[in-house]
Amino acid sequence: MKHLLYTGWLLITNTWRYIRYFKIFRIDWMLYHFYKLRYSYKQFMAEKKESQRPTHELTYGETPYVTIDAIFKHIPHTEFNTFYDLGCGKGRVVFYVNARYKLKSIGVDVIPTFITVASKIASVKNIKGVQFILKDFLKLDLKRKAIVLVCPTCLDKPTIASLFKRLETLPKDSIVITNSVPIQSNTIECTHTLEEPFSWGRSLVYIHKII
Ligand SMILES: C[S@@+](CC[C@H](N)C(=O)[O-])C[C@H]1O[C@@H](n2cnc3c(N)ncnc32)[C@H](O)[C@@H]1O
Repeated sequence: MKHLLYTGWLLITNTWRYIRYFKIFRIDWMLYHFYKLRYSYKQFMAEKKESQRPTHELTYGETPYVTIDAIFKHIPHTEFNTFYDLGCGKGRVVFYVNARYKLKSIGVDVIPTFITVASKIASVKNIKGVQFILKDFLKLDLKRKAIVLVCPTCLDKPTIASLFKRLETLPKDSIVITNSVPIQSNTIECTHTLEEPFSWGRSLVYIHKII
């Protein structure tokens, strides 16, 4: 019951965003239909196994739009051209950040269906400012100054260590947003800590800057 109320409240927070960014409503509708009617848990598990990543690291959850907006209030986003969602899942945040904040938005994930479906929607809806890449984010080159979102909640400690090492290679003044785990590094400074809602409950969010 508590879970239903929480999910209902998250849906309500989307209402004015859907009215203002109707494109986002249509994308969410398409994603809902595809994943409800044409994608099974069995397929998802098979894709997880084929990804060569530990299955538990691919646990699915979403960052609600209300949380993205709360985070972006603390970021000088107009100084940036690019946003990365490392582990973008179905791509909802990528579409939202592109529509709302006008940033070139790039989503990376190891689940092929996530990437294929999001890319197809971008092509059908003729959305030019988004890109979806099928790749292990530990192998991604991060050369552009960017705002980067990553959810390390379910990652093992060695994976988190490799990921944070890779994030250190981002150009100076890039922004990295994590939840649950702050980055400890001599070249990455935590500038804000917030507590925000996620699809699985409330969690701490850390905003960092590359120095
Ligand atoms: C908790 S979901 C986050 C979805 C989305 N970023 C959001 O905030 O709504 C984590 C996603 O990271 C992906 N993932 C986990 N490890 C990965 C890796 N090494 N490379 C690429 N994607 C990965 C999973 O497949 C999953 O879709």
